[in-house]
Amino acid sequence: MLNTFNRLLGDDAGILHRYLGMTLVYGLLCGLSIVSVVPVLASLLGNDISAASRWLALLLVGVLLCWALRRRVERAGIRVGVAVLQQGRHHLGDHVAQLPVGWFSAPNTARLSHVTAQGMMALAQLPAHVFTPLITGLVTPVVVVVTLFLLDLRLGLLALLALPLLLAVFALTARLGQRADERYHANTAQASQRMVEFAQAQSVLRAFNGADGGSHFLEQAIAEQQQAAKRLIQVSAMSVVVNTWAVQVVFAALLLAAACWLGPLAGEPLPPATLIPAVLALLLLSRFVDPLLEVASYSEVLRSARSQLTVVRELFAVEPLPQARDTQVPGDGSVELHEVSFRYAEDQPEVLRQLSLSIAPGSMTALVGASGSGKSTLMRLIARFFDVDAGSVKVGGVDVRRISSGQLAAQISQIFQDAYLFQGSIADNIRIGKADASEAEVLAAAREAGVLEMLERLPDGLDTAVGEGGARLSGGERQRISIARALIKDAPILLVDEATAALDAENQAAISEALARLRGKRTVIVIAHQLSTVAMADQVVVLDNGRVSQQGTPAQLRTEPGLYAHFLAQRRSAKGWRIAAQSVSEDSV
Ligand SMILES: Nc1ncnc2c1ncn2[C@@H]1O[C@H](COP(=O)(O)OP(=O)(O)OP(=O)(O)O)[C@@H](O)[C@H]1O
Ligand SMILES: [Mg+2]
Repeated sequence: MLNTFNRLLGDDAGILHRYLGMTLVYGLLCGLSIVSVVPVLASLLGNDISAASRWLALLLVGVLLCWALRRRVERAGIRVGVAVLQQGRHHLGDHVAQLPVGWFSAPNTARLSHVTAQGMMALAQLPAHVFTPLITGLVTPVVVVVTLFLLDLRLGLLALLALPLLLAVFALTARLGQRADERYHANTAQASQRMVEFAQAQSVLRAFNGADGGSHFLEQAIAEQQQAAKRLIQVSAMSVVVNTWAVQVVFAALLLAAACWLGPLAGEPLPPATLIPAVLALLLLSRFVDPLLEVASYSEVLRSARSQLTVVRELFAVEPLPQARDTQVPGDGSVELHEVSFRYAEDQPEVLRQLSLSIAPGSMTALVGASGSGKSTLMRLIARFFDVDAGSVKVGGVDVRRISSGQLAAQISQIFQDAYLFQGSIADNIRIGKADASEAEVLAAAREAGVLEMLERLPDGLDTAVGEGGARLSGGERQRISIARALIKDAPILLVDEATAALDAENQAAISEALARLRGKRTVIVIAHQLSTVAMADQVVVLDNGRVSQQGTPAQLRTEPGLYAHFLAQRRSAKGWRIAAQSVSEDSV
């Protein structure tokens, strides 16, 4: 727990250590104030008034010190909380920013947003609201036990044995709750993911399920979350009850032992020499129990915060891809895969199997293959979203693991299937490819990607706001802007995951023209779904179940029996009307 806090606080970890030290001293002082009642009472019962006043004065000083220190401890705890909120998010963000792009899957992103939004708040409240009473609640009984030893060895020993026993009970109930808590958090993350999905996919859901349909998945996720919440509440309530019972049982056992050992309750009156320590021991026993009851009531809050800490710890434990010390600069725009094997997780099947492929600089390669054959995975490995399990990926003649992440990013531009645009203007979105691009450069890229043609309809031209995620533009328009963004970056290699959605003819033509203009200028690797794109390629690579099944120029493959012929037949029947109507180039496929 301390390690995770240290990691979150970074250079500010000192304030946590100071706070913990201060709380420890505060707990000791509270304990000492409580046990100093013993000499006060002993002196009073022994009729030694002057000694009693001296002890009373000391007790008063102790109480005043406690009060003063309490305020400082509280302030220190709040300072730690504020630092967790400010620095923690910052450090977690820095760490996550170094993780491989492949790490950012939907569940990981949901966990990250859950922990940064809610988890950090829960952790920030821990020091001031939970650590202080917990630490004091544990230190005070220890001081009481030491004093009990001085009064009666047997009672002291019994109380000492009770402490680890109680801690074991607390740990056990915490463990019981841990599982319920994990399930609750997993279900909450799932429900919020479904909620976002539900809102974003309204048009699709309504089209297929009617106005009030489509909420089935969301309802199911919410029902599961409610079920998990109910279970968590039950387990939490039970834990608090069990913990309190355990403390009460220990208290009863100690009282019973005191009654048996310190003398018969009925019968002869006890002599003062026995009576005074007996009364004082009984008094201490009640003070022994109070702070422990407080610990019992806080253990639930601590446990639920611990599950957030576990998520933070796991996030910090994800290793960034290793960076070589002696990095090399890639020579040209070539790409070479040698005997590459890759699987997404150890328990999952191999997605790419000993795949070798050579792509010359400035050439255009079209990747085709059935859904799930590994096309996108191959692209991700070239951009080093993940490291290969076996074999090597070379860019510009250098293994990607020996290229610095900055250099590799500079070498590759990417156009994704679902072009994501950031809120801002079209020009802002194009400039993401090159932050310091001049107006003329933005215009040139916009022209090459066919963005200029679509601007005629837009009142503010390049300054038109695209809306969140580009929501105000059509799919084809978004893809054109993402092409302009990739072109302005001017990297020697361009990876394109072509839109599978049937784009309208105008958009498709604009995209084809943009790709055609790049021929010979850049190494273009495109996952092709359109026949016109395949027709342009210098080589076509057909993937089948993670291996290269066919490879060659479009003309060579056209005559070969195999998957490519099947792909062509499928595409032609889907797009038959267009091929019949136009496009000489498509006839050459
Ligand atoms: N992030 C991931 N985690 C686990 N498995 C994955 C992941 N991405 C893809 N896969 C699996 O790897 C295999 C290849 O997927 P990939 O996305 O590379 O196929 P593809 O050829 O691009 O398919 P499509 O044409 O549908 O885009 C599939 O079986 C897929 O389920
Ligand atoms: Mg894909």
